[in-house]
Amino acid sequence: MNKNYYTIEDKAQILIDSLPYIRDFNQKIIIVSFGCSNILTDEEEQEVMRDIALLKSIGMKPIVVHDTKMGHDKFRENKRIAKMIEFCGVKAVGICGIDLQTLHMTLDNDYIPVITPNDIDNEDTPILPEEAAQTIAVAMGAEKVLFLGREEGIRDAGGQIISQMTYDEVKKMKDEGRFEGRLLQKTTYALQMIEQGVPRIHILGSRMAHSILVEIFSIIGVGTVIMPDREHYYPHELKRRKIK
Ligand code: ARG
Repeated sequence: MNKNYYTIEDKAQILIDSLPYIRDFNQKIIIVSFGCSNILTDEEEQEVMRDIALLKSIGMKPIVVHDTKMGHDKFRENKRIAKMIEFCGVKAVGICGIDLQTLHMTLDNDYIPVITPNDIDNEDTPILPEEAAQTIAVAMGAEKVLFLGREEGIRDAGGQIISQMTYDEVKKMKDEGRFEGRLLQKTTYALQMIEQGVPRIHILGSRMAHSILVEIFSIIGVGTVIMPDREHYYPHELKRRKIK
């Protein structure tokens, strides 16, 4: 798309739309489960890290949980991702294993924790980033979890991404056997997290440039957001829905 297509008014509107979310998500824990490093180029990966650094810079508390690029050492990988984030001017630190005390400490000291779910005592057990994200989200009271990966969202029968779904709608599709593979894993963890009180889970594609920013700062987003029910909107979202 030609970027010059946007007028100054469009650009201003994008910033204005983001304001309520900047306010709502201030100091909130946002977990980014990054389960896709092997499908991104280094440049694309750097762009994802820039988005995460931006969230931090404007007052959110992102936590990154990742899997490992094929053939890479998990622990080095951790360091590599943290370095990419630091390249964007915010502090980040690699953590191995899920240790809540260390997590609190790093957040309190203004670092972005970059977590590989494996620790040295379970080095070879495969742990999905989504599973680790669930444990952390519930324990830390996260505001939302973003599942960033190959899957761009949940699709309807016609192949279109469904923008918003409730817990019941996702559960129904799951019970009907409509999900498989990674999407089945993601929706399973998403449903469990909603049951455990995490307000919003988002499934979004990592290949689309800046999908994180569009998802978080716009009303319509870009992937699928799963919410407990249709009552759980932020006040400004309700106002907007009434106008339309
Ligand atoms: N920006 C809002 C949020 O982060 C709304 C996102 C809506 N996303 C969607 N796929 N419909 O919660």
